[in-house]
Amino acid sequence: MTRAPRTVYLDHAATTPMVPAAVEAMSAHLLEVGNASSLHASGRRARRVVEESRETIAQALGCRPGEVVFTSGGTEADNLALKGAFWSRRAGDSRRVRILSTGIEHHAVLDPLHWLAEVEGAQIELLAVDRDGRLSVAALREALERSADETALISVMWANNEVGTLQPLDEVVALAAEYGVPVHTDAVQAVGAVPVDFAASGVDALTLTGHKVGGPYGVGALLVRRELGLTALLHGGGQERDVRSGTIDVPAIAGFAAAVELAVKEQSVYAARVGALRDQLVTGVLSAVPDAVLNGAPSGDGRLPGNAHFSFPDCEGDSLLMLLDAQGIECSTGSACSAGVPQPSHVLLSMGRSEAEARSSLRFSLGHTSTAEDVEALVAAIGPCVERARSAGMR
Ligand SMILES: Cc1ncc(COP(=O)(O)O)c(C=O)c1O
Repeated sequence: MTRAPRTVYLDHAATTPMVPAAVEAMSAHLLEVGNASSLHASGRRARRVVEESRETIAQALGCRPGEVVFTSGGTEADNLALKGAFWSRRAGDSRRVRILSTGIEHHAVLDPLHWLAEVEGAQIELLAVDRDGRLSVAALREALERSADETALISVMWANNEVGTLQPLDEVVALAAEYGVPVHTDAVQAVGAVPVDFAASGVDALTLTGHKVGGPYGVGALLVRRELGLTALLHGGGQERDVRSGTIDVPAIAGFAAAVELAVKEQSVYAARVGALRDQLVTGVLSAVPDAVLNGAPSGDGRLPGNAHFSFPDCEGDSLLMLLDAQGIECSTGSACSAGVPQPSHVLLSMGRSEAEARSSLRFSLGHTSTAEDVEALVAAIGPCVERARSAGMR
């Protein structure tokens, strides 16, 4: 009997498997009853689990427990930060209608920004990034000099999800402080991969999500300073200090907190191990396909340890993805599909790449279950797959 080929999962930036500690913490509460808002003993027990989880997350990420607002994930936390801060800042001063951000943000940031522009009259300015996908601090300074009085918020991601480039957040925060403008950061890809400390970072709001750190799907948090005074998006039972109504998902929050605690505790060991594997992957791919181009910041301090992102000239990324998938190797193009038509990645276009270059790219992302065998399997398969994708493109 032939055995099915092993799956080589190289898409941890999309979602990563739950860690056993999170499965245990979550399953321990699945059969328990109790609404965390109820006053009886079962409700109080559920509330205790939520508050202990809040403390665990606060301790791991350097914030106060009262600064943790649980959400349904990264998308909701980004929407809450952007819309909530825009509305509350504009209510305080009607001139504050501008949001400064970058063109390489995740759609969970870009789409609410476009919505705020269309529906609420917000003025959105997407600042330039360089060829490695790093925000131009000079562009931010220029925008603040020109329009700080009208600026409600700056939103710059901690690390890019496609090309892995870390953003100059310290410089963003220092400049923003000079002009008195609050900063939100989407740290979905950063938590557990690089050191993240909310208080030390100086940001006012920070997004994270469970399923990228070994926790469950559908749960995340916005860490937010109380002074930012967000306007609520969801109205109802007044949970999460009236900022985010909705019955609290106790088991998911327990699993999320266990995952965050472990990911932060193991971050430096993880970064060293996974970073070394990623470097082997980059070397192996570039020797199998010498004209492949590594996108994003060079490996090292400026880049997420698990990220490798390449353009393969004269290849369609989608065809290459399907050829690799047929060999059991799973990765991502990073670009979205609109009505079945592959779209070039907005991140690569913002980095000054052509549409053809953007369409020829693939992201390989490693995580806590990745092994040297995964890297070897990709390195063995990539050359022949690129050749086939190229000859398919020429037909
Ligand atoms: C940078 C970034 N922000 C936000 C999100 C959305 O998070 P969620 O899937 O929890 O809604 C993702 C997920 O891919 C992401 O990579």
